Amino acid sequence: MKIEENKALDDLNTFGLIVGAKYFAEVKSVDEFSELVQNETYTGNKKLILGGGSNILFTDCFDGIVIKNSIKGISVVSETEREVIVKANAGEVWHEFVLWCIEQNYAGIENLSLIPGLVGAAPMQNIGAYGVEIKDVFQELEALNIETGELTVFNLNDCNFGYRESVFKNKFKDKFFIASVSFKLTKLSSPNALYRFKTDYGDIKNTLSEMQVYDLNLKAVSDAVIKIRQSKLPDPKVLGNAGSFFKNPLVLKEKYEELIAKNPVMPNYPQKDGTVKIPAGWLIEQCGWKGKVVGNTGSHKSQALVLVNYGNASGNEIWNLALEIKKSVLDKFGIEITPEVNVV
Ligand code: EPU
Repeated sequence: MKIEENKALDDLNTFGLIVGAKYFAEVKSVDEFSELVQNETYTGNKKLILGGGSNILFTDCFDGIVIKNSIKGISVVSETEREVIVKANAGEVWHEFVLWCIEQNYAGIENLSLIPGLVGAAPMQNIGAYGVEIKDVFQELEALNIETGELTVFNLNDCNFGYRESVFKNKFKDKFFIASVSFKLTKLSSPNALYRFKTDYGDIKNTLSEMQVYDLNLKAVSDAVIKIRQSKLPDPKVLGNAGSFFKNPLVLKEKYEELIAKNPVMPNYPQKDGTVKIPAGWLIEQCGWKGKVVGNTGSHKSQALVLVNYGNASGNEIWNLALEIKKSVLDKFGIEITPEVNVV
């Protein structure tokens, strides 16, 4: 197990920040992780687990050991006539896994096409897009204790999934290294498959009709999602970013009524628990940030919720912009928005 010193992380964070780590190890198997937990450089330093680096903002070099999850492999664990349990190791690229499922005719995650990052990061924050969240198709995951390497299996209840939340961001923050995730998917090849495509969210239906798709299929839904994402979200390979920088805030009913009375066109999504989700992108746009360039950073012109690195931004520059945006949303609307990305 090789541990590198003074490792550049420039290509390992989608903000494209020039940062480094004191130590760095790439883990390619569960056995390699077991070996790593015995190593003194590992035990004696603070740790940061990195997946695709697509949801992280480094405000400084990391003064500890960064562990990159590169455990690969996809396998079918079991299947019935209508359903299949597929296990993907955490180091698989999420979008490639989605495409693999589509090729097998396994339905359930096509709406989550083109989300950057690795499979292991998906349950961390219960990734979601276009009306689907990972929790809807989650079966179980295997995680290794970060101190001992011991393997624990987490089922749906254990993970405590919420909107961009899980037990791994709260009670078990920095306690586990996710090794694999299993999903329960629908076999569309089965003549008795029971499946309803989720095309209600946002622009999916319009995009499908623009694409002249009359007979729904996995590839078409995936292509529509890809088209929408590409039209709104900047490609991190071209313009550094980490997707939505903030979470969409949930407000109480009274607060919502106060806001909607003043802003009748405000988009809003009532939740089952009585709270209302307000798009942070809309709030930020109303505060005048959309498309604004501030030094080497700014809020993106097509999606205000995405902060970008125009070239030589430092992590602190992006973080300072985020704090300014947060303050102006609080001043104008009395709503506290919180980051979705991990700030380290
Ligand atoms: N809006 C604005 N101005 C903007 C951006 C959005 O007014 O600059 C409005 C839109 O018009 C729309 C509403 O806000 O009425 C929602 O916008 P959108 O559908 O683009 O989605 P979002 O709520 O901004 C969330 C996720 C995205 C995910 C999309 C689609 C969060 C924090 N973000 O964004 O996830 O792709 O929905 O499902 O929940 C990510 O997590 O990195 C991410 C990109």
